[in-house]
Amino acid sequence: MDVTVKGLTFEPYLTRDEIAKQVKRVASEIKRDCTTECPIFVCVLNGAFMFAADLYRAIDMPLSEITFIRYKSYDGTQSSGKVKKIMGLIENVEGREVIIIEDIVDTGHTAKMLRDDIAAYNPKSVKMASLLFKPESLKVGQAPEYTAFEIPPKFILGYGLDLDELARGMDEIYVLKNKD
Ligand code: IMP
Ligand code: MG
Repeated sequence: MDVTVKGLTFEPYLTRDEIAKQVKRVASEIKRDCTTECPIFVCVLNGAFMFAADLYRAIDMPLSEITFIRYKSYDGTQSSGKVKKIMGLIENVEGREVIIIEDIVDTGHTAKMLRDDIAAYNPKSVKMASLLFKPESLKVGQAPEYTAFEIPPKFILGYGLDLDELARGMDEIYVLKNKD
């Protein structure tokens, strides 16, 4: 069923089952590649909270840690190009394996700033797991090492992703409908 948020109409795009399947796949890829038993996962608020909760449970590494940072870049349905750090990292990640958990990599500006900021603390390695990746929109930086879904450059809503802070709680992923 379509949903309307702030006058825009969205249609169902990825179901709960499809999301769960890809989250499981990404979790097993991350586990397979970890070189230590105690990586630190860094969830980027607000958008990645739901993906991070499901992914971290599926990864199930008892000696790992999870922490949270907050960056903001979007206004409405467009990337603003300016990324603001709202809440930074307080843990010491020096010498540690870091895996950033993001909701979506669009232009890549947020992902690049996150990687650069964390790299400044001299971790052993920095990788990124993103729920969604829009390869055609990428302008700076690199693709995430782990991606649940590669998608076309369309605006997405739900499962943590918002439109001006609304609709993050929908447990399926919706896409902005073309006007016809
Ligand atoms: P970037 O810096 O342009 O790569 O944008 C990354 C951030 O913008 C993400 O972490 C999201 O918070 C937000 N964002 C990008 N695309 C979408 C979208 O389709 N829906 C909702 N938020 C998005
Ligand atoms: Mg985000």
